[in-house]
Amino acid sequence: MQLVIDSANIEKIRKLNEYYPIDGVTTNPSIIVKEQKPFLPLLKEIRSVIGEEKELFVQALAEKAEDIVKEARYLRNTLSGNVVIKVPVTKEGIKAINQLKVEGIPTLATTVYTPMNAFLAAKAGADYVAPYVNRIDNLSGNGVNVVSEITQIFLRHNLSCKVLAASFKNVQQIHNVCLAGVHGVTTAPELIEEMIGHPSIEANVKQFKKEWLDLYGEESMNLISTK
Ligand code: G3P
Repeated sequence: MQLVIDSANIEKIRKLNEYYPIDGVTTNPSIIVKEQKPFLPLLKEIRSVIGEEKELFVQALAEKAEDIVKEARYLRNTLSGNVVIKVPVTKEGIKAINQLKVEGIPTLATTVYTPMNAFLAAKAGADYVAPYVNRIDNLSGNGVNVVSEITQIFLRHNLSCKVLAASFKNVQQIHNVCLAGVHGVTTAPELIEEMIGHPSIEANVKQFKKEWLDLYGEESMNLISTK
């Protein structure tokens, strides 16, 4: 199961990538704009932080299929490493995904709101679909159910497309899509940090240390040098 950072903030990406088992970084136009920096150097910097192997997801901006395809080729030629092109699931987007499949360019179908959005994208050849869990919830839908149905449909019909769930507001939503069998999640740095944000962990570690110190004293704290 993949764990992906949904951010273009270099410092946050650097920190998370150092500490956690991160598989890649997703961006979209809004996420890039937030950083207020020239976008190509920013994307190249993200690449240098995460290395060449991990997937970097970059969204096409064009609306017509042929322009999306041109942008995808450009991004893949300009950015090094493993680059996946994000394409919104519009009618033109589905056509572009199909064309990109023929050219061997990997895609993620984004802005997915229904299982049928996802089905069309997978049939067109998308490597990933990204259902927007929290945005679906905000429309009085059930984001986790949508993810669950998409994963079931892909499984039942042997569609090799992966479900990378996106748009989360809390860790419970992430927990629930994991239970639903999702292939991966992409989420904001703050929520990745929240995944281990349980006060009991720190309290337990403190207690272990206190009990140890009480018996063996400060000089024994280095396990390697103490006999
Ligand atoms: O990757 C999609 C994501 O950026 C949308 O998330 O939190 O803006 O709904 P959000």
